[in-house]
Amino acid sequence: MINLLCSALIKSIMSKLFSSFSIRHLESKNRLMRSATTSYWSDKNGILRQPILDYYRLLAKGDLGLIIKGHSYISSNGKAHTGQSGLSDESHLSKMTELTKLVHYYDVPIIAQINHGGLSSKADRVTASLYKTDEFEAREASQDDIATIIENFASSAELAMTAGFDGIQIHSAHGYLLSQFLSGNINKREDKYGGNLENRSRLLLDVFDTIKKKIGNEPVIGVKLNCDDFAPQDGIEIIDSIQISKWLANRGIDFIEISGGGQKQNAKIRKIRGKPSPNSPYFEANFSGHAEKIREAVPKTALALVDGIRERSTMNALLEKNIADFISMSKPFIREPYFSSKLNTGKKRSDCIDCRKCLSKERFGKRMLTCAVLDP
Ligand SMILES: Cc1cc2nc3c(=O)[nH]c(=O)nc-3n(C[C@H](O)[C@H](O)[C@H](O)COP(=O)(O)O)c2cc1C
Repeated sequence: MINLLCSALIKSIMSKLFSSFSIRHLESKNRLMRSATTSYWSDKNGILRQPILDYYRLLAKGDLGLIIKGHSYISSNGKAHTGQSGLSDESHLSKMTELTKLVHYYDVPIIAQINHGGLSSKADRVTASLYKTDEFEAREASQDDIATIIENFASSAELAMTAGFDGIQIHSAHGYLLSQFLSGNINKREDKYGGNLENRSRLLLDVFDTIKKKIGNEPVIGVKLNCDDFAPQDGIEIIDSIQISKWLANRGIDFIEISGGGQKQNAKIRKIRGKPSPNSPYFEANFSGHAEKIREAVPKTALALVDGIRERSTMNALLEKNIADFISMSKPFIREPYFSSKLNTGKKRSDCIDCRKCLSKERFGKRMLTCAVLDP
């Protein structure tokens, strides 16, 4: 028994998963990142409520390397869903500061993810181009709207720094506003924010530049980026996300978290393009094939990879092959907030079975982030 424990301990000491990593001055004690995961549990004004703080305490105690907080809206008209937290005015500061202090108490860095919902917003929906479905309509953002959105991203980042976050992650994935601009499937503009990829990327790059101007060079700034949005036509594909990553890297982005999917994603296309080949050693890591290519294109930029990663051996292989610097996960930490400590003491695989009930209408927002299997 003692032998077994010793060998688990030695393995864990030697594994790259539990080696430290620095993004400039931001140090994480291991390579495990909690990907942004919104709890749906803030009050109606976007202020964090106690169950959220309690949940982050569990995560921080659980030995994570880096936590990305669930997305916060940059302005009330960019709020994506009920219960989303805000970083849009000073009323949000007190609880956000409480959050960063409690996470820092356990020596874990925490980054604020900031977002505008675009056509998913609750009110005054704007997006790149007029967007109509049977249920709703989003208007095309005017030049003034765009200027305001850029300014709101920068002010939100400044608020996050005041609240004590260790950096910012700009949400440019999953079909929210910035990824709506990137995708030719939604963006049909004919001005400098639409048309070719360079123009469609302009809003994201302007947001990055303006944040940097506002908060300076010191704070760490990253992006969550779709490697592919799996739209039937004119969407973002790997060739585009490689180019966007290069532009971001040239401008000095500190890290890119590679994700995928969007407003118009097609399940069949995602099944085909969203997986590496079946004989890949990282088959469960949905976007590992894309990550390999992005790594090649931006070898000096820190990369995190998210989506589907569950096995400790996959995590180590991805790190050993230098495909990512961080292993990012969301649902495994809903199932087991202490998953990181458990991996460190020999656990091989997350208990998450990907039932996705944590995201279901019956559950999401009705209960604090808990696993439907453990807490039916
Ligand atoms: C309950 C829930 C909330 C989420 N909230 C966010 C969010 O605020 N921002 C974000 O970028 N992704 C969000 N995601 C997506 C995750 O960060 C992640 O990209 C996705 O779940 C795939 O990773 P996984 O397979 O490890 O769960 C959320 C996922 C879940 C399950």
